[in-house]
Amino acid sequence: MTKTSPPSIIALDGPAASGKSTVGLKVANALGYLFFDTGIMYRAITWIALQHDMDLNDGAAMTKLAQEALIDIRPPSTSDGRTCDVLIAEKDVTWDMRSGDVDANVSVVSAYAGVRQALSAQQRRIGLRGKVVMVGRDIGTVVLPEANLKIYLDASAEERARRRSDELIARGEQADYDTILKKIIERDRIDSTRAVAPLRPADDAIIINTDDLDAEQVSSRVLELCK
Ligand code: DC
Repeated sequence: MTKTSPPSIIALDGPAASGKSTVGLKVANALGYLFFDTGIMYRAITWIALQHDMDLNDGAAMTKLAQEALIDIRPPSTSDGRTCDVLIAEKDVTWDMRSGDVDANVSVVSAYAGVRQALSAQQRRIGLRGKVVMVGRDIGTVVLPEANLKIYLDASAEERARRRSDELIARGEQADYDTILKKIIERDRIDSTRAVAPLRPADDAIIINTDDLDAEQVSSRVLELCK
């Protein structure tokens, strides 16, 4: 019997808090693939801009920043729930990427065509090496349309808000469910209505609704699809 290899490029897209990172990391680890969460790049640009009090409405400035910023992503150095280390100017800023300020502004920064062009080019270059699980909003549609397996994870906004608030509480942070739900709905709106690379499943993506599934069950389903 011949053994077929798993798909080399796996695209995993979906809205905020749909479980992409948790599932993507599990699948990548099971296959021995690189896990690449592209949202981190958009978050890093947003964080740098906020740190420097830059005008987030200035698309040209945001584009220049995306073209020039040196963002380092490395395997996790500690097991505090992170999927990787994020370093900017040699400083570990992993959890800063998840701050409320970044959450509230990242959709605006990631809507600029110039920002997307700069970051997508980097993502594509890395993804084309293969043996990768790449997670984002537009991986199957724009970044790696040639991906061998495209998965789109979906879940209701209410379920996603519940997961996000559980996550924050687990990290010892404050979480107000109603506020989180409102923010998720607003991010969905911006991400799916932007002119460039809006959030949507690729025509050939397999859509998995995760409302009633935990991360383990979703990962098993994705691994099943890899066979
Ligand atoms: O997956 P995330 O919540 O970390 O993503 C943060 C933001 O980045 C999200 O609001 C939209 C944007 N993003 C994107 O536009 N394209 C991607 N491939 C990944 C993220």
